[in-house]
Amino acid sequence: MPTISNKGQQMPQSPIRKLVPFAEDAKKRGVKVFHLNIGQPDIKTPQIALDAVKNNTIEVLSYSRSEGSETYREKIANYYRTKNILVSAQDIIVTTGGSEALLFTFGSIMDAGDEIIIPEPFYANYNGFSAASGITIVPVISKIENNFALPAIEEFEKLITPKTKAILICNPGNPTGYLYTKEEIEKLAAIVKKHDLFLIADEVYREFVYDGLSHYSILQKEGLEQHAIIIDSVSKRYSMCGARIGCIVSKNNAVIATALKFAQARLSPPTYAQIAGEAALDTPQRYFDEVITEYVARRDTLIGELQKIKGLTVAKPKGAFYCIVELPVKNADHFAQWLLEDFNLNNETIMVAPAAGFYSTEGLGTNQIRIAYVLNKTDLIRSVEILKEALSTYTA
Ligand SMILES: Cc1ncc(COP(=O)(O)O)c(C=O)c1O
Repeated sequence: MPTISNKGQQMPQSPIRKLVPFAEDAKKRGVKVFHLNIGQPDIKTPQIALDAVKNNTIEVLSYSRSEGSETYREKIANYYRTKNILVSAQDIIVTTGGSEALLFTFGSIMDAGDEIIIPEPFYANYNGFSAASGITIVPVISKIENNFALPAIEEFEKLITPKTKAILICNPGNPTGYLYTKEEIEKLAAIVKKHDLFLIADEVYREFVYDGLSHYSILQKEGLEQHAIIIDSVSKRYSMCGARIGCIVSKNNAVIATALKFAQARLSPPTYAQIAGEAALDTPQRYFDEVITEYVARRDTLIGELQKIKGLTVAKPKGAFYCIVELPVKNADHFAQWLLEDFNLNNETIMVAPAAGFYSTEGLGTNQIRIAYVLNKTDLIRSVEILKEALSTYTA
């Protein structure tokens, strides 16, 4: 019998999606499932983006340029300028989602056996992309007790070895909702410069920042041009997850030239989705104002309701739309599956993402779940009610 590669065997399942068959079974049994497991917003995609696809007159749905269409990249560069990120179209490669941007970046700057330092917990698929690239994640642990603030800079320096190639942050963070301050970015900038590393920032949630705080991008930091790589995506910004469009942004020409070779190998990003992405850049500010107001209300509702449950710990997110919740259970994986297989409250249950998959340190996060507050307030209140009742019933 032909065998599967070691790499293939080591590829982790996504904690966000691995319980889907159990959710599907629950639905077949007539149970309504509230999806708190995945960052799939219910927010409407801007009409301008949908219309651009509907109304176009393409007769041959052809490939585009590997780096993305010229007009789209020019417009993306304009968007960044409005965020005080001074880049040009030449600094941008359009990718098939932020996911491909991560894969191309890892492939461009790291070899098998190299190490990348990532504050943990982190976006679960960093585990998958690292496994696919043969690189090792060296986690620096942030804690729920400190609201997931960045550990002391000395903690990062202790972890640097001759194999370290990069530090990766997610800002604002999935799954913690943590927003890095300008001072924290400056400290990270000093480390990567001192040790000649790359600093990768996954900024796909850049717009989702709350409480009057503002986002500080690594590419706003002067002197970091050769080190900084931004990962970006339209998925969350415009609630366009299905478009599958993202990009890599860097002022480092060698990084862009190398990523372009990966981009050429997969030919081009999707053509229709680039049309939608380009049109989406004309989305009026009031769309974002309304969306942010909605997310703040959802966050406050969710956190407020969760805090009423005894024995549960939750850190208040400052951005993105996720939170990590520590539960009074031993094994959140088991609890999450049990919620779908064995529990319902008046024929309704919830699907959550067990948090262990958001860590690379064995044994961490086993009593935590990640909740995405992408549902409306009524559904969130009902979901917490279900969680509360489930916790009082669950005995394992
Ligand atoms: C932090 C982060 N980075 C990257 C991605 C990948 O997004 P996409 O491939 O849809 O652009 C996601 C998706 O949830 C994410 O949460």
